[in-house]
Amino acid sequence: DGQGRRVFDLLARDGQRDFHGDGRTTRTAGFDGDYLGPTLRAKRGERVAVNVVNRLGETTSVHWHGMHLPARSDGGPHQMIRPGATWSPTWTVDQPAATLWYHPHPHGRTEEHVYRGLAGMFLLGDDREAALPLPRRYGVDDVPVIVQDRSFTRAGQFTKTRNSISSIGVLGDTLLVNGTLGPYLDVTTSRVRLRLLNASTARVYSFGFSDGRPFDMIAGDGGLLPRTARLDRLRLSPGERAEIVVTVRPGERVTLRSDGPDLGAGALAARFAGGRDRFDVLQLRAADTLAPSPEVPVDLVPADRLDPASAVTTRRLEFLGRGVNGRSMRLDRIDFAVTRDTTEVWEVENVDGTPHNFHVHDTQFQVLSVGGAAPPPELSGDKDTVYLAPRQPVRIALRFTDHSDPDVPYMYHCHLLWHEDNGMMGQFVVV
Ligand code: C2O
Ligand code: CU
Ligand code: CU
Repeated sequence: DGQGRRVFDLLARDGQRDFHGDGRTTRTAGFDGDYLGPTLRAKRGERVAVNVVNRLGETTSVHWHGMHLPARSDGGPHQMIRPGATWSPTWTVDQPAATLWYHPHPHGRTEEHVYRGLAGMFLLGDDREAALPLPRRYGVDDVPVIVQDRSFTRAGQFTKTRNSISSIGVLGDTLLVNGTLGPYLDVTTSRVRLRLLNASTARVYSFGFSDGRPFDMIAGDGGLLPRTARLDRLRLSPGERAEIVVTVRPGERVTLRSDGPDLGAGALAARFAGGRDRFDVLQLRAADTLAPSPEVPVDLVPADRLDPASAVTTRRLEFLGRGVNGRSMRLDRIDFAVTRDTTEVWEVENVDGTPHNFHVHDTQFQVLSVGGAAPPPELSGDKDTVYLAPRQPVRIALRFTDHSDPDVPYMYHCHLLWHEDNGMMGQFVVV
């Protein structure tokens, strides 16, 4: 509204969508529309207010995944919105430009609500990002790519088929991108920036292009990387984001695909957890004449690393079965307290045979090592979600700043939503 304030209205509601274009409508849910929700945008320094109205037939919540904000505005399972009610969190954006997202977080029901379609992107901007020669015309050369796997019954309804051999959760046989089946993108510039979001409930992707061409990864969960990473494959587990820039030639068609991701699990686990599944994700159709795009800079933003040697606490979190450190999530139990403005090191390990990942609210962390080795370039920036291969401990450094509240906790959990719903989650307060 010109005062550095952004006010958004979001209406969570049930919907119907004809995904196949043949008259079979699927019962869905969405924010404002039938499926997914609007892309929200704000800049660093702006004050944000959202009015979330719940017109669903059941209680839900809306969590701002990746956002640094007070616990009472976080939208976790302690900020439930009853049917007919409105929840109005506010906060000031104080973190770098990034591709974040929002989705419900009702305890035990997150998978169900996200599966029906409740999710959207939340893009943050800042001056540093704006000063770089990057594609940024939304919908033209800067495009959200929300990737979700679904299964449909013959009557066209969503169905959640859980593999009984793996315990990964729901793996669909059909991909939706931004809620569209068989999607393509008309590209009119020589480079296009794709903001990839794995908004699937359980599936891990390994993105790459049909002809194996390399692409430039410029940003991860928490914003721009220190340096552009040239890759030809990129694994994203549920909840993770990456911004990539790909170069196209006039008139060509090239397809973003996902091949079986390396899950670092045994052959059987990998097979039943989607480790062999391949999908076409998004076809790029380049126009015969392309407007030139500037080259992607090599140096992006200066690295601002925490010093693990200054950590006051080291915590170990073991992911196994239906819990973390042998305990399942309880809304009335705070698992630990973190002191504001201190650096901590967390060692997170999947001690299960099943794939998991790790997500923490309110802050971005830095990956120190994966399985004892230095992290690959795609994990070189700020992260809020990281894949946990079985028996490969991930060490992270993190720090909670600005906000503290002894009464209202934040969450950490596996972002495979069935696991989260079944108790692979814990809560902490910042004091
Ligand atoms: Cu994206 Cu606690 O969640
Ligand atoms: Cu989150
Ligand atoms: Cu898990």
